[in-house]
Amino acid sequence: MQTILITGAGTGLGKELALCYAKKGYTIILTGRRLGPLEAVKEEIVSLGALAFAYQMDISSLENVKQTVSKITLEHTVDYLLNNAGAGCFGPLTNLDYGEIETTIQTNVLGTIFLTKELLPHLLKHENSKIMNIISTAGQKGKVNESVYVASKFAVRGFTESLQKELEGKVHVIATYMGGIDTPFWDETDHIKDKARLKSPREVAEMIVAQDNQLEIQI
Ligand SMILES: NC(=O)c1ccc[n+]([C@@H]2O[C@H](COP(=O)([O-])OP(=O)(O)OC[C@H]3O[C@@H](n4cnc5c(N)ncnc54)[C@H](OP(=O)(O)O)[C@@H]3O)[C@@H](O)[C@H]2O)c1
Repeated sequence: MQTILITGAGTGLGKELALCYAKKGYTIILTGRRLGPLEAVKEEIVSLGALAFAYQMDISSLENVKQTVSKITLEHTVDYLLNNAGAGCFGPLTNLDYGEIETTIQTNVLGTIFLTKELLPHLLKHENSKIMNIISTAGQKGKVNESVYVASKFAVRGFTESLQKELEGKVHVIATYMGGIDTPFWDETDHIKDKARLKSPREVAEMIVAQDNQLEIQI
């Protein structure tokens, strides 16, 4: 059975994707910066009778990505990478803090690229390997008060579409686009007025997992 590494797997969409893939029989490598939420998801998965392992990893740190990937690949054979972790900053550009801007680009763009580059040699050792990148409709069109987040997701889209061509016939690379989801992503901002109107992360995760034989998923 396959082993999937999921980033940002302690909360929101990443957590629900981890539970869905566990129900499909995958072994789950849960990663994120905070070990507490990852351990809670791990317990939930183990109680379903599946296998899960938690590793602390900050994808925005190349050093940390290299160390953690070495550790994980010594202990597991990973054949599916799901780049889900993400950060955002919202509001008019004039109001955005430089620190938040750097975190958004560093996490969404460099984090996704660092981890993919580091794990790719391992994925290439197996037939039927997959990479899925969680993008957003923010990777498809510009939006008011989302300039930096949109810029980061356009970059992830470009990275994904390029890898689809570069790795054709070797690794199945999936671009996933979706609108708003009711997750902790919106906890620190009033950009979304009523997040209860958004889709639930479970609903979105189920739709994604059901379509992961495609190259592009649009929800
Ligand atoms: N919510 C939406 O409306 C929506 C819509 C479209 C797309 N998305 C995308 O969906 C993905 C998941 O977001 P979500 O909505 O589920 O929000 P979330 O619950 O806030 O999840 C984001 C996850 O990323 C992890 N993370 C953040 N920075 C990280 C870093 N430097 N290294 C490793 N992990 C990091 C966080 O865990 P730690 O803090 O423990 O590291 C957290 O578990 C993101 O890529 C987001 O852009 C969200």
